[in-house]
Amino acid sequence: MEVPESDSEDELPAGWEQRATRDGCVYYVNHLTKGTQWNHPRTGKKKFVSGDMPFGWEKKVDDSTGEVIFIDHENGRKTYTDPRLAFAVEEKLHQDDFRQRFDSSTTALQVLHGRDLSGKVAFVTGCNTGIGFETAYSLARHGCKVIMACRDMSNTQKAINEIRSKREQSGELCIPLALDLSSLENVKLCAESCSKLTKKIDILILNAGVFGISYLQTIDNYETTFQVNHLSHLYLTLLLEPLLVRNSRVIFVSSESHRFASLNKPIEDLCAEDLSPNYESFGSMTAYNNSKLYNILCAKVLSNMWLSKNIFVNSLHPGNMVSSNLSRNWWPYRLLFAFVRPFTKSLQQAASTSAYCATALELEGTTGLYFNNCFRCETSNLAGNEEFASKIFDLCMQMIVRQMGSNELQQYIKRK
Ligand SMILES: NC(=O)c1ccc[n+]([C@@H]2O[C@H](COP(=O)([O-])OP(=O)(O)OC[C@H]3O[C@@H](n4cnc5c(N)ncnc54)[C@H](OP(=O)(O)O)[C@@H]3O)[C@@H](O)[C@H]2O)c1
Repeated sequence: MEVPESDSEDELPAGWEQRATRDGCVYYVNHLTKGTQWNHPRTGKKKFVSGDMPFGWEKKVDDSTGEVIFIDHENGRKTYTDPRLAFAVEEKLHQDDFRQRFDSSTTALQVLHGRDLSGKVAFVTGCNTGIGFETAYSLARHGCKVIMACRDMSNTQKAINEIRSKREQSGELCIPLALDLSSLENVKLCAESCSKLTKKIDILILNAGVFGISYLQTIDNYETTFQVNHLSHLYLTLLLEPLLVRNSRVIFVSSESHRFASLNKPIEDLCAEDLSPNYESFGSMTAYNNSKLYNILCAKVLSNMWLSKNIFVNSLHPGNMVSSNLSRNWWPYRLLFAFVRPFTKSLQQAASTSAYCATALELEGTTGLYFNNCFRCETSNLAGNEEFASKIFDLCMQMIVRQMGSNELQQYIKRK
């Protein structure tokens, strides 16, 4: 039996070379037999190159030979080899057919290596710090315009200055926008302001969150963890829908904590008060776990609803007990997060699954999935229950409409 020299399935055996046709189909040349074939000699899969040229590259037809050449303007080089061959994507047999390329140690910048996101617009909530900051920075570092929707404008400006200090051009791509998720009215104002800043959103990352806070009601009279982590994000997503275009990606930053959610009631008996508990029935951990479950459920409902519009909605877990400001609200959590810090993901690593879901070429068309470590992952049974998802979505709609009226939301209320 021939033993591969590499543990990477994708690596070509000795004597083989990978090339691309003008229209982007990858083929394989065997220099020993002088044969060519469309299928990868090891995986048996077909591949194609797509997407934009890497930053600084140009594709041109050589006037003298009529051949397609690729010009690397930064290094002053010319080649006949398509530089996108390094990022060739396997042909999908069905929507969710993609292989694991990264793991828990991958950083967001590694996910984005070689990608040019110029011309793309991302909207990221809660990105003045933590995982959101690394997500925003990594996208801007690759040429994406990033609308940084945060509640404290002075901290947001500091975050933009930090991005600018890493790379001037990246900082210039970041636009601060005020967003306080503890007020539905403020969410509406934010969405209105956003439509004056951009005509489209390619990537919407619902990242902001609170954890471990005491019982507190928002201005809308809903429990704060529920509203900030879920309800306002859902409202924001619906209000921003007119800016989402074909192939836009919406990403709910959820958590593995969704597995510990508890509602203690049959689905048919659930009402709004169960989602936004009162003081007596409140538990901060349960509120967090439940909010993260609602993220996954509503992402699933939206993914079905927007399938025909080619808007793709997924949810994800960024990492376990990642050292960020999330634990700031209770000192035992701060201690615990600090204690486990050497064993958990860095913020750059925690931002990798967001960057992956937002940009990976092989995820085009993939929707309604939950990701962990840059790969799809099974949710809890409850999170996969469609009847339950529909019920939670409808209750959330009732709660939004109760406060904000139904003007912009008719299509979602009448969806049945
Ligand atoms: N860290 C982890 O281990 C972990 C694990 C699983 C999932 N997650 C999820 O990952 C996401 C990012 O968390 P993180 O760890 O990066 O936490 P973080 O450092 O505390 O960042 C949270 C962000 O949310 C913002 N935010 C909080 N309340 C807001 C409000 N009312 N309106 C607008 N923005 C608000 C914060 O803004 P301020 O700075 O102004 O407060 C901050 O920018 C969260 O959804 C979290 O649930 C984190």
